Amino acid sequence: MKVDILTIFPEFFGQVIEFGIIRRARLAEIVEINVHDIRKFTTDKHRMVDDRPFGGGDGMVLKPEPIFAAIESLLGTSEKENYPSGSRVVLLTPQGRQLKQSVAKELADEINHLVIICGRYEGIDERVNETLVTDEISIGDYVLSGGEPAAVVLVDSIVRLLPGTLGSETSAENDSFSSGILDHPHYTRPAEFRGMKVPDVLLNGNHAEIEKWRAKKALEKTRIFRRDLLEGDNGDM
Ligand code: ADE
Repeated sequence: MKVDILTIFPEFFGQVIEFGIIRRARLAEIVEINVHDIRKFTTDKHRMVDDRPFGGGDGMVLKPEPIFAAIESLLGTSEKENYPSGSRVVLLTPQGRQLKQSVAKELADEINHLVIICGRYEGIDERVNETLVTDEISIGDYVLSGGEPAAVVLVDSIVRLLPGTLGSETSAENDSFSSGILDHPHYTRPAEFRGMKVPDVLLNGNHAEIEKWRAKKALEKTRIFRRDLLEGDNGDM
């Protein structure tokens, strides 16, 4: 998969893509991640990436010209109907469809070229959404100062699902949400720590018992912390 991130703060991504799973996937050439400075696509004297909103109001709005130019250079066209198949242009915005494990899975399965536009300030010129953007995604019901942290979340959630990224093929399948509920609790050595004991069932080597215990605990945790997942009112989980 190729990921191109468009941002006015390219330095933000400096170290983030150098660690852990994302680093491993990049080194194994499962994913290629490129960060592009939107300002590089400006052609005006002042290299302006934003301007005041028509109609008045607070803040600045990201201008369309450099974003159109960036998309044209990456995808060969600025008409979403004509994007190469397997390509999507995602705008990160609190107005978007909420990111869920099912959304990450859909993108991991269907896409080989993901272009991410990080929104900023009060917003982005609506002609970008209308013409360029195939998917608007929010990472949750809160407002960030910009789409950059959300881009990191989105990329991480997708990259870990790409075949070959995780050491064991089953690791992602066992993650919380993959089965629609939360993960079970985990323990490691020591078996007793400051008087707190690891449950006996995990120490006795009976795998059927362990699986039963884990399923029970996962359900218990979900009931306590995320009852909505069991009641089916969690959007598109
Ligand atoms: N930009 C600002 N807030 C955001 C959010 N919650 N999700 C995605 N992008 C955003």
